[in-house]
Order: sequence, then C-alpha cells, then structure tokens
Amino acid sequence: MKALILSGGIGSRLWPITYTKAKQLIPVANRPILFYAIESIVKAGIKEIGIVVGVTRAQIMQEVGDGSRWGVKITYIYQQKPEGLAHAVKISKHFLQDDSFLMFLGDNIIRDDLSRFIQEYYNKKVNALVVLDKVKNPEEYGVAVLENGNIVELVEKPKHFISDMAIVGLYIFDQNIFSAIENIKPSWRNELEITDAIQEMIKSGFKVGYGQLEHWWKDTGSSQDMLEANQRLLDDINGCIKGMIDSQSIVQGKVIIEKDTSVINSVIRGPAIIGEKSNIKNAYIGPYTSVSSGCEVENTSIEYSIVMNNCKIKNMEKRISDSLIGNDVEILSCNQIPTTCSFIVGDRSKIYSI
Ligand code: TTP
Repeated sequence: MKALILSGGIGSRLWPITYTKAKQLIPVANRPILFYAIESIVKAGIKEIGIVVGVTRAQIMQEVGDGSRWGVKITYIYQQKPEGLAHAVKISKHFLQDDSFLMFLGDNIIRDDLSRFIQEYYNKKVNALVVLDKVKNPEEYGVAVLENGNIVELVEKPKHFISDMAIVGLYIFDQNIFSAIENIKPSWRNELEITDAIQEMIKSGFKVGYGQLEHWWKDTGSSQDMLEANQRLLDDINGCIKGMIDSQSIVQGKVIIEKDTSVINSVIRGPAIIGEKSNIKNAYIGPYTSVSSGCEVENTSIEYSIVMNNCKIKNMEKRISDSLIGNDVEILSCNQIPTTCSFIVGDRSKIYSI
C-alpha cells in the first residue's frame, strides 16, 4: 500500500504566517507538523509516499527531501491550484496507480497506530475506510452516519444531531475512488470534495467502512488548534537538558533545552522546549511553550505559545500568551516614559492587548 499526504492548500486561516510558510511546516514541539504524519506512515510499514504540494512546494521539498532519512521513497505531486481534497487525489492517479492507498491530511496530527486501520481495511473487505472520532461538538465537523458497521451517509457540519462520529483526516481507498471523483461536481466553494466522492461510492453500491481512533488527534487549521497540538505533544516529551543553565535559574517539570542554548536568571516551567542556539535571559518561559532555534528572549514572560526561529522578544511588560510567532520576528519594548508603540507588521497581522 502507498500513502498520499495532502500538503497543498492555502492555509488562509493561518494568515499571515502562511504567506511565507507552509502550514504543514509550522513547528509543533519544535518539529514540522508534516514530520509527524510521515513518521506515523513509516511506522505502519508503508515505503512509498506521495506528497501533494502547492505554492509552498519548494519549502516542503527542501525540508522533507526524498525520504531517505526515513528509509522511504517520497514523490512530489504538484497541484497547481487548491481545487479540493478529491482533486488532489485525482491528480495523483499516475503515482497511486491501481493500488489501495492511505490518504493523510498533512496538517493533521494523529497519534494512533495506522497499521490497525490498514488491517481493518483488509479484514472488513471494504472499498474505503474512513477514520472517525467521537466528538462532543459534531456541528463543527463533517460527520458519518453509521448502519450495520458501515457508513451510509456523510454530512458536513450538521445543524441538527445526526451523528457524533467526526471525520478525521485519514482515509484508505481502493481504485474505485477515481471513478467516483469523475462523477462529482465542484461544491459551493468550488472544490472537489472528498466527502462527495465517498458519498458517490456509497451511492454506487461500494462498501465504505470506518475505523475509530483510540488516541487524540488534531486538525491544526487554526492558530488555537496549532497551540493545542503543541500542548498535547509537549505533554508527551521527556525532559532533557543539553544547554547551559546558570545557578540563578529554575527549571521545573518536563523541559527540553537543546545544545548551545543558555538560560540565565530565568524560570522555565515545563512542559516546554527551547531549541538550539537560543538565549533566555531574565525571563519566564511558562508551560506549553515551544521556542525554536536562534531566539533571544529577555526580560519577558511567555507561556502557551509557539515561537519560531530567530525571534527577538525583549522587555515586554505584559505576559505573552496564546501566541503563534513566525520566523525572524522582533517584539521589542524599551520601557521608556511615555510609552509609545511602533509597528512594522505585515498584512493581516493581529496584535491584541488583553
Ligand atoms: P484545508 O485545511 O481544508 O485547506 P487549507 O490548508 O487551504 O486551509 P484553509 O482552509 O485555512 O485555507 O486542507 C487540509 C489539508 O489538505 C492541508 O494539509 C492542505 C491540503 N489540501 C491540498 O493538498 N489540496 C487542496 O486542494 C486542499 C483544499 C487542501
């Protein structure tokens, strides 16, 4: 079985971060989201992975490479425009050929062992297997209606209760998905929807089964989702100190401090991770914070946030929280009286004082 990871799209819910960075490369617990998907797929024994890429293809190809670091072969499939998940499958036919394949949304983090779903797909002898999770707020998801162990209908964001089994970004299909895609039309948002293609399979009499998650998963489409994924992954880390911590500093809980990083007169309260070549001085780094490499954090408190590479954050009077901070960002205050603010922020940036 091959795998197809969808990493095109525009990531509009994460503007302006995604103006310059592929959503799938945003670091959670200091590793690109996409790496978690690749690793789950590799762990399930799949050796050939296709990655659908769009405008951010150069970055993705550079960071991910040819797959040799995971001992697998990665092929890139270029989608000129994000015309929907089913469109991404359609243009990957030459790569997938007639094999069954596992499809994984590249902005999802799924902690279950994928080999269980592959086994279920073969054992149940279905034409498609859709992975589901029981949720408390089905009105916010696409949900599946079940009957006798199979899916009989998929409903997008149901207004009235019809099922609480939400569709997760993980599917297995046989080659019948391609004819189903040929028979569907673009939706109101002008995309070829994978749910319409699955519905079409059901209509044509093909068996669509389901698998159910046992562990947590996260679709990291928005900044809050991204921060929550960061929180969940940091909960699972083992502390490890490779950098330098001076005697005035306090490190509590599970904390990773990478090499060539110094922590001076600061408090780091885990779960937290600080990347390589960063300097933390007179600062407080609170729980669920990931600071990437090459950062300087000084006279500042920060918690429940992701700070990407080479940022300078200094002398902030207020604590920074719930923030997603891109690469090479400077947030500086000189604490002079009267206090003024000076901004050079790109389109669609968001600055809140709470
Ligand atoms: P979405 O989150 O549905 O779309 P998006 O990434 O463009 O984000 P937004 O809604 O904020 O604008 O996409 C889910 C995953 O599928 C994501 O990894 C991108 C990928 N994708 C494609 O590869 N091709 C596509 O045509 C679409 C729509 C998404």
